[in-house]
Amino acid sequence: MADVQNCDSCSSSPLELFERVTAQGEKVRSLKAGKASTDEIDAAVKLLLSLKVTYKTATGQDYKAGSPPVDFSPVSNNGPTTTQDEDFVDPWTVQTSNAKGVDYDKLIVRFGSSKIDKELINRIERVTGKTPHHFLRRGIFFSHRDMNQILDAYENKKPFYLYTGRGPSSEAMHVGHLIPFIFTKWLQEVFNVPLVIQLTDDEKYLWKDLTIEKAYEYAIENAKDIIACGFDINKTFIFSDLDYLGMSSGFYKNVVKVQKHVTFNQVKGIFGFTDSDCIGKISFPAIQAAPSFSSSFPQIFKDKKDIQCLIPCAIDQDPYFRMTRDVAPRIGYLKPALLHSIFFPALQGAQTKMSASDPNSSIFLTDTPKQIKTKINKHAFSGGKDTIEEHRKYGGNCEVDVSYMYLTFFLEDDDKLEKMKQAYTSGALLTGELKKVLIETLQPLVAAHQQRRKQITDEMVKQFMTPRKLAFNF
Ligand code: TYM
Repeated sequence: MADVQNCDSCSSSPLELFERVTAQGEKVRSLKAGKASTDEIDAAVKLLLSLKVTYKTATGQDYKAGSPPVDFSPVSNNGPTTTQDEDFVDPWTVQTSNAKGVDYDKLIVRFGSSKIDKELINRIERVTGKTPHHFLRRGIFFSHRDMNQILDAYENKKPFYLYTGRGPSSEAMHVGHLIPFIFTKWLQEVFNVPLVIQLTDDEKYLWKDLTIEKAYEYAIENAKDIIACGFDINKTFIFSDLDYLGMSSGFYKNVVKVQKHVTFNQVKGIFGFTDSDCIGKISFPAIQAAPSFSSSFPQIFKDKKDIQCLIPCAIDQDPYFRMTRDVAPRIGYLKPALLHSIFFPALQGAQTKMSASDPNSSIFLTDTPKQIKTKINKHAFSGGKDTIEEHRKYGGNCEVDVSYMYLTFFLEDDDKLEKMKQAYTSGALLTGELKKVLIETLQPLVAAHQQRRKQITDEMVKQFMTPRKLAFNF
């Protein structure tokens, strides 16, 4: 096992190696904290030591926690991450040839993050006293960085805060966008912590064919959808970059600090930028990094620079935060911790994520019950057999069936979900029947969202988006 790991490490960049050593150190800590067996701990320590040796060979430096190699090479040689089987994942594109979707285990290895294992889930349950959210129980949030540090902080009554975001590229968000927000709301309730939500209207202006005014308008519209997820107004600050950057005394300073410590070469490696990309794009990652530092929000955290940040998001956003984590210790800040989710698949299949830029791939939060029904019946990729006879005889394949996948996200009842799986796999349940269950799950969920959204007034949006002290004393 150790040999395989070492060999994998041979092709890794110094930064990847650094992150793998860190992740393995985290794993050892978590095994020890969870009182795992001596054999398991010994094996993990052995792997940690061998990774440290590989790191030293590759960089000529000893591994030092919190100090990544200063001049690291790109995360992968061809920029954004492609796993051996040609899975492609970056903040803009998700593509795999596998109908089951991206190979997330391989992605964890390539990105150098850590798996959210049973032990970590048990620890979250122990520490919070709450049943873990079904997104955790079902592996939808599957990867993390430094979550054990957050739990240590929480146990020691040290504060932390949550940070997530949305790039407002269109008026309507889709149901896939709900995943990080639903989970963030759960985290906010369970841990009772401040939350900041960044709306990157500047990013969308830079990347899309949009005017500044339109991008800002979408930010406000999207803020209503986000508020409709049920965030606590006293504990949540939502901001548009176009608004807040010019108002805050702390935010822009942090943007500039990050900009000074990341080279063009590095962002080319991480994001695949080319010489013909506009300079706005090239410097944008610093703007997505800045909310990871508490001093970007003096109205909430006063002069505290060391409140740790936890970022829930889908794993497509990780490149931004790999960069952020690399820079943080060099500018005197803590690295943000992360919780990563898998992608909510496109209707046509898990080869790609649901994306607002492809309307046929998406169920929007503005869709009517009839549109939802039609889209699912017409487009949702089925893992069923061609004829009823064959389906009854051989059964359906849940691993590629989009309706079943969607139910794993939104059908909360574990028993019912397991029954559906068994019935579909055995052939007792037909594709049309499975789709009906999904339609009956999504229609009320989207309708309820629309109802809540209707109640949100301009005044409430303004309140959420006003820089102010939240219901916490720092
Ligand atoms: P954006 O608008 O592309 O996505 C917003 C959030 O939704 C997640 N997401 C998905 N999750 C599951 N399945 C999908 N199909 C899917 N599509 C999108 C994204 O990972 C993200 O969490 N640059 C960012 C905005 C941003 C941000 C952040 C996001 C700024 N700061 C901090 C997360 C955390 C963007 O354009 O996200």
